[in-house]
Amino acid sequence: MHQIEISGSQDKSSRYQSLLPQIEALVKDEPDLVANLANIAAALKTACGYFWVGFYLVREEELVLGPFQGPVACTRIGFGKGVCGAAWEKGETIVVPDVEQFPGHIACSSESKSEIVLPVIKDGHVVMVLDVDSDKLDEFDRQDAVFLQQVVELVVGIC
Ligand code: SME
Repeated sequence: MHQIEISGSQDKSSRYQSLLPQIEALVKDEPDLVANLANIAAALKTACGYFWVGFYLVREEELVLGPFQGPVACTRIGFGKGVCGAAWEKGETIVVPDVEQFPGHIACSSESKSEIVLPVIKDGHVVMVLDVDSDKLDEFDRQDAVFLQQVVELVVGIC
């Protein structure tokens, strides 16, 4: 049985440092991608308390909702649309401190206030994006981006 153990008293950096090896352990003996993405989303939600966290998978011309944790979300996002589609188009991480200021932001929930989206790039192609939403403004900083990029690299290794 796997359990994610993170002390509530730890600061963000220590929390992230102790979470990464636990996520690695969670996926290392399981070959199924969907099962692993589901557990990664659950681990991130449990340990980090994000409002919404999940994956959108590239399926032909669209992103299609994959494993996630949080309120129900939009199922399909076009290339270049919203923050997720823009991260796919640019192949770059996008941090949005205030979703209302992002032109074309797709509001799956009115409670979502800030967001970070990271592309998962395998063999030069974006194969999915990792999307994390917060119900607070300006939640994501460089520390979050660096940690979530490590999670993305782990995902690339299991794709
Ligand atoms: N806000 C995203 C859509 C996905 S939800 O946040 C889960 C976007 O603008 O692409």
